[in-house]
Amino acid sequence: MAIDFAPYTDDWKTDPFPIYREMRDEAPVYFAKHSSSWCVFRYDDVEHVLKTPETFSSDTRQASRKLSMETLIEIQTGIRLSLALRVMPTTLARSRMLILEGGAQHRDMRKLLNRGFKPKNVLDWERRIQELVGQCIAELDLGGSFDLVSQLALPLPTIVIAEMLGVEVERRADFKQWCDSILIGVVPLASSDRRTAMLRSMKKLKRYLLPLVAERRASPKEDLLSVLVAEQRGEAALSEHELFMFALLLLIGGNETTTNLIANAVDALLANPTQVEQFAAEPDRVKGVIEETLRFDSPVQYVARVATQDVELRGQKIPKGSEVIAFLGSANRDERRFADPDRFDHERDSRGHMGFGHGAHFCLGAALARLEANAALTALAKELPGLSRVKPDVDLVLNNAARGRGTLELRREAPESRDLGRRAH
Ligand code: HEM
Repeated sequence: MAIDFAPYTDDWKTDPFPIYREMRDEAPVYFAKHSSSWCVFRYDDVEHVLKTPETFSSDTRQASRKLSMETLIEIQTGIRLSLALRVMPTTLARSRMLILEGGAQHRDMRKLLNRGFKPKNVLDWERRIQELVGQCIAELDLGGSFDLVSQLALPLPTIVIAEMLGVEVERRADFKQWCDSILIGVVPLASSDRRTAMLRSMKKLKRYLLPLVAERRASPKEDLLSVLVAEQRGEAALSEHELFMFALLLLIGGNETTTNLIANAVDALLANPTQVEQFAAEPDRVKGVIEETLRFDSPVQYVARVATQDVELRGQKIPKGSEVIAFLGSANRDERRFADPDRFDHERDSRGHMGFGHGAHFCLGAALARLEANAALTALAKELPGLSRVKPDVDLVLNNAARGRGTLELRREAPESRDLGRRAH
C-alpha cells in the first residue's frame, strides 16, 4: 500500500513509533503532498540536515508555502500580533529571532544570549530549584493520589523562568496566567478564542516586561534580564522588541518541553518496574533516566528547516524553498544508531540522542532543563515504587511538535496488589 503521511495532522502522533520505523525503512526522505514538506526520518539524515545550515536553513519564514487555510490563519495572526504588540508588521517580520537566524547573525546573537545560560550560571540556580521542587512535593498526597503534571512538572519551569527573568513575586500569578494562555494559543490551528486570548496575554506581557527591561538597563540586578541587557552594543544588540521576543521564546521553548521531559520520564519508568526499583535504590542514576527519556520519548519530536538551494538527499531531489522536517523522535529510535531502540533502558549509552536538537541551534536551555528534571526526579525517586497511573490510558499532549502528558495522575497501590503484580512479572 502506498504510504500517505501528513506531518501536520494529529492522527499519527498517538503512537508514532511504528510509523517512524516504516518511514525509515520504506521512505526515509518523503515528500508529504498535503503540506508540501519533505520529511526526514533516519538518524544520519536528520544529523546531516541539522549540521548543514547553509543548505537547510532555520529561517522557515523563507519557505515557499502553498496558500492553505493554515497559512491564511498564520498571516491573519501575524497582523493581529503586530497590532497587539504595537509594532509594524515589517518590524515584526524583520525582528531577529534566535531560533530562526543563521550564520554570523545567529552566532553573534547566540554568544550574547548564551551568557545567561552557561552551565555555571545555571548551576547557581540549583539550590533554588531544589527548594521549589521540595515545596511542590510537600503538597503531593504521596500516600493517596496526585497529578504529577499540574502539581510539579508544569509549575516548576514556569516559576523558574519567572524568577530568572526577575518577575516580582506579586506579579507571578499574572505572569503564569499570561504564559498559560500564550502556550495554549500559540499552537497552530488553535481556536479563534484561544488565539485572541493569546494575543491579549502577549500584549499584557509586553506591557509588563518592557519597563522591567528599561529598569534593568538603568540599574542591573542579578537576574537573567540584567545579563541579557548588559553590554549590549554593536550589531548584535537586541532592540526592546527583540528582547521581548526572546523572553517569549524562552517561555514557549522552555516551559512545556521541560514539563514533558519530567512527566515522560516518570511514565516511562513506571512502565518498567525493575528500572523503578533500581532508580529508587540509586537515585544518582538520574542522569541516565533523563538522557534515555530524551531519546526514547522526546519532548520535541521534530524541527523544521528550509532548503536554501536545490539539494539531493538519499536520491530525492528537494527543490530550493522547500520545507524540510527533521524527525528527531524518529532519529532517536533509529535501529541503525541505537540497538533495540524501542526499549526504555536508563542504563544504555544514549549519547548522541537528538532530544535537544543538534548543531548550531542545539537547545540553549539544555543545562537548565537537565537541572530541573534532575531535581524533580531525584526528589521523586524513592516515592516511585508502588505508584501507578490512576487511568490506564496515557493522557497525551501532542501540541505541534511536542509530545508529553496533559495529566499524569498517580496513586499508591496497596502493598498486597504490588506483591501480586511482582509475582506476575
Ligand atoms: C526538556 C526540555 C527541552 C527540550 C526537549 C528542548 C528542545 C529543543 C530543541 C530540539 C531545540 C532545537 C530547535 C531547532 O533546531 O530548530 C531547542 C532550541 C532552543 N531551546 Fe530548548 N528545549 C528544552 C528546554 C529549554 C529551556 C528550559 C529553554 C530556556 C529557558 C530552552 C530554550 C531554547 C532556545 C532559546 C532554543 C533556540 C536555540 C537556537 O536557535 O540557537 N529550551 N530546544
